[in-house]
Amino acid sequence: MANQKHLQELIDKLHIERNLSKEEWISLISGRTPKLSHYLFSLARKERCRHYGTDIYIRGLIEFTNYCRNDCFYCGIRRSNAFVHRYRLSEDDILTCCHTGYLLGFRTFVLQGGEDGFYTDERMVHLIQSVKELYPDCALTLSAGEKSYETYQRFFDAGADRYLLRHETADFSHYKRLHPLCLSAKKRQECLWNLKEIGYQTGTGFMVGSPFQKAEHLAEDMLFIKKLNPHMVGIGPFIPHQDTPFADKKAGTLELTLFMLGLLRLMLPKVLLPATTALGTIAKNGRELGILAGANVVMPNLSPISVRKDYSLYDNKICTGEEAAEGSKALKERMDAIGYQIVTARGDSLISSI
Ligand code: 5AD
Repeated sequence: MANQKHLQELIDKLHIERNLSKEEWISLISGRTPKLSHYLFSLARKERCRHYGTDIYIRGLIEFTNYCRNDCFYCGIRRSNAFVHRYRLSEDDILTCCHTGYLLGFRTFVLQGGEDGFYTDERMVHLIQSVKELYPDCALTLSAGEKSYETYQRFFDAGADRYLLRHETADFSHYKRLHPLCLSAKKRQECLWNLKEIGYQTGTGFMVGSPFQKAEHLAEDMLFIKKLNPHMVGIGPFIPHQDTPFADKKAGTLELTLFMLGLLRLMLPKVLLPATTALGTIAKNGRELGILAGANVVMPNLSPISVRKDYSLYDNKICTGEEAAEGSKALKERMDAIGYQIVTARGDSLISSI
């Protein structure tokens, strides 16, 4: 009981000071209880409402290629997975997705893909310019992995507004257990600092419950995110994929993911925080619960239906129901039912980019 009181005080401290020490993060994360979560979520909702009201921003997610040169141990589209049917969308395909999305009310398009050599800088620049020329009132977000400073700069100059690149785990040795040796947490984090310096609205994030993850690693994630002060943070539970080295590992839980969402909202009150597809995959009402824990963004799938099953980062990924763009009426009803409204707006970050 004394412990509960102490942990509740830590939540209050986080609420006031927007920060905790590593030890405090560890105590809070490892000592969490349903009662504390309930308390945390009520404060997180209050913070979210103070800045964003009950608006929910939508982003149209276009998964433009599932070719990837990387071999991350957790990811279903890793290079070594020979069972994946590989595809890439042409520029015309992508523009068609944007057209559909625009009519559905989307004002942000997120181009997400593996690290695919076919999409050279020149092709990407052309694509970015075409999207921005046709949809000048829309924000364009890229999520296409690690690139050089110069390349990020070129994409930015071509018109890209935002970039998502999850740091995955801030702990260097934990990162090594999730990735092949050629990838490093240091490089990943450098990319994020570069993106911020260039002027992107920058998004980072991590998986919750990834193999070998300890409360200490989550504490480091929080400290890293505090330091980076990103505009967006995408988190979701790790979910095993049958054709990866982590096929037999346990999935992350709904409960811990929601707790981390609440903590993130208190730490960075203005952050854009999606209730992710992975959250909607582990629980039917996962995305609603994410909103009620402090999230304020959803990212319905706008990819052509024919390729959606091939962009399978983990098993049983939802992609054709109410979470997809064409299910936007149902999504709207679901959000209305919990007292929130989907809005048609670019939904820029309230955190300044400078
Ligand atoms: N489970 C959950 N999330 C995953 N991602 C990749 N593989 C998985 C998985 N098996 C996440 C990573 C990546 C984002 C696009 O998807 O965090 O950055």
